[in-house]
Amino acid sequence: MKTYLVTGGAGFIGSNFVHYMLKKYNDIKIINIDKLTYAGNLENLKEIEKNPNYSFVQGDICDKETIEKIFEENEIDYLVNFAAESHVDRSIREPEVFAKTNVLGTVTLLNAAKKYWETEDGFKAGKKYLQVSTDEVYGSLGETGYFMETTPLDSHSPYSSSKAGADLMVKAYFDTFKMPVNITRCSNNYGPYQFPEKLIPLIINNCLAKKDLPVYGDGLNIRDWLYVEDHCKAIDMVINDGRLGEVYNVGGHNERTNIYIVKTIIEYVGNNIDSAVTENLIKYVEDRKGHDRRYGIDPTKIKEELGWEPETTFEVGIKKTIQWYLDNKEWMNNITSGQYQNYYEKMYGRN
Ligand code: NAD
Ligand code: DAU
Repeated sequence: MKTYLVTGGAGFIGSNFVHYMLKKYNDIKIINIDKLTYAGNLENLKEIEKNPNYSFVQGDICDKETIEKIFEENEIDYLVNFAAESHVDRSIREPEVFAKTNVLGTVTLLNAAKKYWETEDGFKAGKKYLQVSTDEVYGSLGETGYFMETTPLDSHSPYSSSKAGADLMVKAYFDTFKMPVNITRCSNNYGPYQFPEKLIPLIINNCLAKKDLPVYGDGLNIRDWLYVEDHCKAIDMVINDGRLGEVYNVGGHNERTNIYIVKTIIEYVGNNIDSAVTENLIKYVEDRKGHDRRYGIDPTKIKEELGWEPETTFEVGIKKTIQWYLDNKEWMNNITSGQYQNYYEKMYGRN
């Protein structure tokens, strides 16, 4: 029975990963450590909280003692690091916590794994540290071309720079100590349980509340969207079969402009839920500082080496996602009535 230490498992992708893995395997154990910041939500995991193969520890990945205690008490086989401050807009306003969690937290985890996995002649067999990174470390594309694993790092925001710093530390542990690691760099995820500060759940939530739909700049920035379950599948494949020390890009060639995303959501909600939701709600607002223009992933390596391919097209995934938020209004209400509302007002000074 393999034991996974998952960090940040109460967040968006982490909780989807925990669900995905426990559904797929009944012979694994998952320990989820999460600090439960504003973005961590145990409601995301309530369906599996009594699963005997799952346990939760509230803790900070920067806290060496807590992390080492988990390694002391459990034979950890895989460490999958999702825990991070993940929102670009917040990083522009409060960069310090991004440096702390994303860089120092990663180093704390690497050190603990090294301490418990290293032997006199290398590392114990079958161990792996997987860093969940992002395509944002590559910077921004022009109208053509794609990010490849060999594209030089050229991050711009405090968020992406902290993730790039973390990636370089992971690489350093491979290059220096031959620690068994992989890094995955994924494009924008969407799906259930995403905190409604990110574009897709924010627009869905505002449509339902008939609030303004804020579009930054000209709305023509492009993101490459991936349904979260396809990302989880890729991570599982990289843990099992990724070549040690390698980086794998994860993306499904689903580039869309932001305004296309907003109009797609308006159309779905307007046609199916509330005909008062129309494009009149769109409000062009001041652009994000240093706003990356375009992201686009070349997923050839993970496809050719590991056989990974996304299963959910954007057209299917976006409908499933909107419907999930419609079916889980209580989940959204619980978030928006609490810290999120205060956060949003503080950040944007508008409702
Ligand atoms: P999220 O903000 O939804 O979740 C982050 C989780 O980490 C939360 O549960 C939070 O409580 C926890 N956390 C934060 N600081 C912590 C700390 N110091 N110690 C322990 N736990 C802490 O983020 P997400 O969107 O699920 O992203 C997960 C990972 O995937 C991040 O590393 C992010 O950089 C990366 N990523 C995200 C996307 C995306 O589109 N969301 C795309 C590519 C990569
Ligand atoms: O590319 C992967 C990254 O995707 C991850 O590493 C990050 O953790 C994740 O947050 C996401 O970053 P983005 O900045 O691309 O996501 P966000 O949802 O914040 O914004 C998507 C696009 O929509 C971006 O161009 C900014 C724009 N936007 C966003 C918000 C919140 C708007 O126009 N209006 C908004 O209100």
